[in-house]
Amino acid sequence: MIRVCPLAELPPGEVLRLDLEPAVAIFHTEDGELFAVDDNCTHQFASLADGWLEGCEVECPLHAARFDLRTGEPDGPPATQPIRTHQVSVTDGDIYLVVSSEPPAAQPGAPLRTGP
Ligand code: FES
Repeated sequence: MIRVCPLAELPPGEVLRLDLEPAVAIFHTEDGELFAVDDNCTHQFASLADGWLEGCEVECPLHAARFDLRTGEPDGPPATQPIRTHQVSVTDGDIYLVVSSEPPAAQPGAPLRTGP
């Protein structure tokens, strides 16, 4: 579990990018919900932290695919693969992140995974 920052430092409507490997974006929606996803559009690498947050969705800044932050699923082309989601919580006023143990989505041009 990673302590990210005080919740007060990430106001509603804002996003925080963490330089992990791969990078993670934590979104604080206008409704006060927190979501954490890989900061890497599954279409062509764009940073979703640079996109537009609307409700529980983020729109990619490059080609406008929209991802549901609750599930990571895209709403349609050009993205076809979901982004990886992570657990995020608040304890005693601080945001905590648990990075998913699932492998990140393959990126365009990356070799396909063929085994464990
Ligand atoms: S890079 Fe995100 S939709 Fe193309």
